[in-house]
Amino acid sequence: MIIKEAKFLMSNTKVEACPTPDKPEYAFIGRSNVGKSSLINMLTEQKKLAKTSSQPGKTQLINHFLINNEWYLVDLPGYGYAKVSKSSREEWRRMINFYFQKRENLTCVFVLVDARHEPLQPDLDFINHLGTMGVPFVIVFTKVDKQSALKTDSTIAAYERKLRETWEELPQMFRTSAEKQMGRDEILNFIDEVNAQVQNQQ
Ligand code: GTP
Ligand code: MG
Repeated sequence: MIIKEAKFLMSNTKVEACPTPDKPEYAFIGRSNVGKSSLINMLTEQKKLAKTSSQPGKTQLINHFLINNEWYLVDLPGYGYAKVSKSSREEWRRMINFYFQKRENLTCVFVLVDARHEPLQPDLDFINHLGTMGVPFVIVFTKVDKQSALKTDSTIAAYERKLRETWEELPQMFRTSAEKQMGRDEILNFIDEVNAQVQNQQ
């Protein structure tokens, strides 16, 4: 897929206020600092599309971007911020669950995890939660340039082991580096293929 156009549309706290659900939607989420903004900017080839470092704890928003007038890219507020109050966390949980349940055009969630770390409980909890809700998702390992390919293999194997404890089928996984532009074609091709499937179903 060639990105001809990527533009910011709107930010919302309410699912009802999001753009008309008439295009396939791909949402990106992960823990703070996982490299989400960098990945979105790398995919769209725009340096500042996803705002860097939205302050954790501040209003948490669902951010919509329109790509090639064909699909929505959504930047979701992340989880696992240490400094967020219990009430903000609860608010986040409610908003995100509502989004997953109600957003009818949601096609796939990209869960970003840092390739350097063994599976962390908040990530596993979140992934298992998506599975339980029946939300289609893939896992994106970020920052693979920071270590050897072998070390990334071992993180991925650890995730697979953990997920197999609960799930028969494993999600698709992508290795990425925003720094080295790795994984870009793989992710965009994946979106292209899924978009084609969605179109065939209509
Ligand atoms: P918040 O929105 O603040 O939660 O962070 P984020 O998940 O959007 O992460 P962001 O893209 O801002 O990146 C966090 C830090 O990791 C920055 O210093 C980035 O330069 C760095 N970073 C992100 N992706 C990569 C990568 O692929 N390789 C390397 N080496 N550094 C990366
Ligand atoms: Mg960010």
